[in-house]
Amino acid sequence: MSDGWTWGYDRYEPRRERLVEALCTLGNGRFATRGSAPECAADATHYPGTYLAGCYDRLTSVVAGARVENEDLVNLPDWTLLRYRCLPDDGPPGAWLTPDAPDLRHYDVRLDLRGGVLSRRLYYEDARGRGLRVVHTRIVHMGDARLAAQRTRFRAYGWSGAVEVRSVLDGAVTNAGVERYRNLEGRHLVDHRSGFAPGGVARLTCRTTDPGLLIALAVRTATRPARPAYETATRTGTVQTFLLPAGRRSATVVKTLALHTSADRPAADPLATACEAAARAPAFDRQVLTHTASWRRLWEQGEIDVPGEAGRILRLHLFHLLQTLSPHTAELDVGAPARGLHGEAYRGHVFWDELFVLPYLDLHFPEVARSLLLYRHRRLPAARAVARAAGGVGARYPWQSASSGREETQALHLNPRSGRWLPDHSRLQCHVGSAVAYNVWRYARTTGDRGFLHAEGAETLLEVARFWAGAAHYDPERGRYRIRGVVGPDEYHDAYPGATAPGIDDNAYTNATAAWVLARGLDLLGELPDARRAELRERLSLDDAEVARWEDVSRRLYVPFHRGVVSQFEGYGELLELDWEGYRGRYGDIRRLDRILEAEGDTVNRYQASKQADTLMLGYLFRPEELYELFARLGYRLDDEVWRATVAYHLRRTSHGSTLSSLVHGWVLARQKGADAWRYCEEALLADVADIQGGTTGEGIHLGAMAGTIDLVERGITGLEAGPEGLRVAPVPLAEIPRFRFTLCFGAHRGVRVRVLPGRLAVRVPASPGSQDPLTVVLPGDRTYTVAPGRERWFRL
Ligand code: BGC
Repeated sequence: MSDGWTWGYDRYEPRRERLVEALCTLGNGRFATRGSAPECAADATHYPGTYLAGCYDRLTSVVAGARVENEDLVNLPDWTLLRYRCLPDDGPPGAWLTPDAPDLRHYDVRLDLRGGVLSRRLYYEDARGRGLRVVHTRIVHMGDARLAAQRTRFRAYGWSGAVEVRSVLDGAVTNAGVERYRNLEGRHLVDHRSGFAPGGVARLTCRTTDPGLLIALAVRTATRPARPAYETATRTGTVQTFLLPAGRRSATVVKTLALHTSADRPAADPLATACEAAARAPAFDRQVLTHTASWRRLWEQGEIDVPGEAGRILRLHLFHLLQTLSPHTAELDVGAPARGLHGEAYRGHVFWDELFVLPYLDLHFPEVARSLLLYRHRRLPAARAVARAAGGVGARYPWQSASSGREETQALHLNPRSGRWLPDHSRLQCHVGSAVAYNVWRYARTTGDRGFLHAEGAETLLEVARFWAGAAHYDPERGRYRIRGVVGPDEYHDAYPGATAPGIDDNAYTNATAAWVLARGLDLLGELPDARRAELRERLSLDDAEVARWEDVSRRLYVPFHRGVVSQFEGYGELLELDWEGYRGRYGDIRRLDRILEAEGDTVNRYQASKQADTLMLGYLFRPEELYELFARLGYRLDDEVWRATVAYHLRRTSHGSTLSSLVHGWVLARQKGADAWRYCEEALLADVADIQGGTTGEGIHLGAMAGTIDLVERGITGLEAGPEGLRVAPVPLAEIPRFRFTLCFGAHRGVRVRVLPGRLAVRVPASPGSQDPLTVVLPGDRTYTVAPGRERWFRL
């Protein structure tokens, strides 16, 4: 486990099995399968799940007497299920074996991150000393995104006879992976049809209820030694039973899945294509070779190498990021699901988390970043409809979205502590639009992709700017514009104490980022080629008066302050102080303080207590100088002293109820060389591997925190900023990560390697027939250097 490329578990512990399943998920950006035990269908311990990017289904449920609609990422039929038992010559058949069997003697799970191969080894031995070794090896093909395969090897010790093996294609699955959602309708698949095609291929089709996507799975099961199958098709699946000789030589079963749908392009009959693909898929070893070769190319492009345990965790994070969003994603119309393709938490929805994911992709997989931005651009009409429905103009991206881009935030959510269903006002988090605009801007700046910026990028950013200008209302008493009735990133505060209407006013993060978007909108209008500007302004009916208003709003949005710090929102400083020590003493873990207080009959709205970084998000998005400049444009003085006080103030009042919280605080403190920076970075690193939010990782990884930690090392510690002037670096060393290296893409240069050592940094530009141009490196103080292709250059810092 020490080579930095292996993740594993040496014991079977039913209580952590869901965590293992999530962290051992295999995927290729098109679909993913949880790392569940092949022996087990869903039960209290095990939860197999296969999810296809962008495959959502809408169902209506009745909860607390209300009808609620939910669109869910659909759990697809389980292709991995494999049951087996021993049939000794000299006795009755044994029981069907699973890791839960009393005869289990050894168990380990190994995830090879380099090759994307999951293996699970089990050894059973009964009271009479009869042993069975079972080794499963699984891949979800990174090269051919419609294939996956699983090989199982059996070997008997101390007995002879047969192993009875049932290879199952199980369509009787539902969405039942999240306990909190158990009252919601989870049967998304209907019209199952199953049977067999020639060549040992089992087939199953079904469709989602709405919008009725046809899903076809074909599974070829091949055994060695070859044995005929006894085949049965049930209403929702198929079973193929084999009798394999058990003895000193091992017997092998290989299941190969081909997964096709009616959404595939080019369009073809999904079932026929799946059956053909499964029948002609290469043998397992050959598939592993081509699969690992694809992974090798990904690692070359995405490499990050940090010594020690932090490096191993970072690699796991990157592995899961690339399994959720890979070059295959660039061919699909999908967003960045907050919990990966690894589970059903948050129903597979897309939030603002791409804000933490895109910076990495911009630097390593720009075509994937671009495709995520195009997903947003295609949903511009839906975002306009959300704005219109709220009486606004421009585009208001929904807080949660899935397939269509309409608002998918639930109307009610369950507090598991109190058992009460409560109104969910998180859809008032309009700041998600600024994240989309920021991503457009950062992508264009990093990659220099002006084609995108001037086309889809401009349209997206300008429509978000327009929304903010419309949402801001002039308050003559203050001589400022205000944005009222919103919810900030903190999420806890969704209303003033005792108020009848939801929302809080003048969230500092929302207002400051709105001003930033408006200013970038104005810049963009200035830089567009004349013809494009004229065309866009005509298409968007953007007249001079509206542009003049943007200018005005961008300079006069209100940002509240109190006691010398930036307030989270208007009136935040007047809320009660929470007895943090008292609550910690009473409850231990108070990350979900909102639930604790609600269960006590109180509400977090009364207190200065935040779930996660809110105001401090400004320090994540902007370097201190950029932030001070933004505030200066708004007519406020923000300097090191005020910002430090602001950081300290809010940090003391945050419960870190989201994995994004420690990440952002780690980032902000690292930039400030704050003493506690590492503590927060470490917590962000441990977020999923140690499941610090108490059971949430088993429901899906936290993609934003995973991607954000990699980016924290690459951009945070180096202060790296790719832009038109070159690669700017301004390191803020973190003693705990003194040395590391990574590769990135910059302009026409691919595979640019950055090496960081204490006090030194090197940039190597590979020789490339594509570009003879040197790469410009800008060090603090605007010291500019160039690195020629084929050369490496060291810089003292
Ligand atoms: C956080 C949000 C985040 C969402 C999805 C929530 O717990 O508060 O900021 O977007 O999870 O990851």
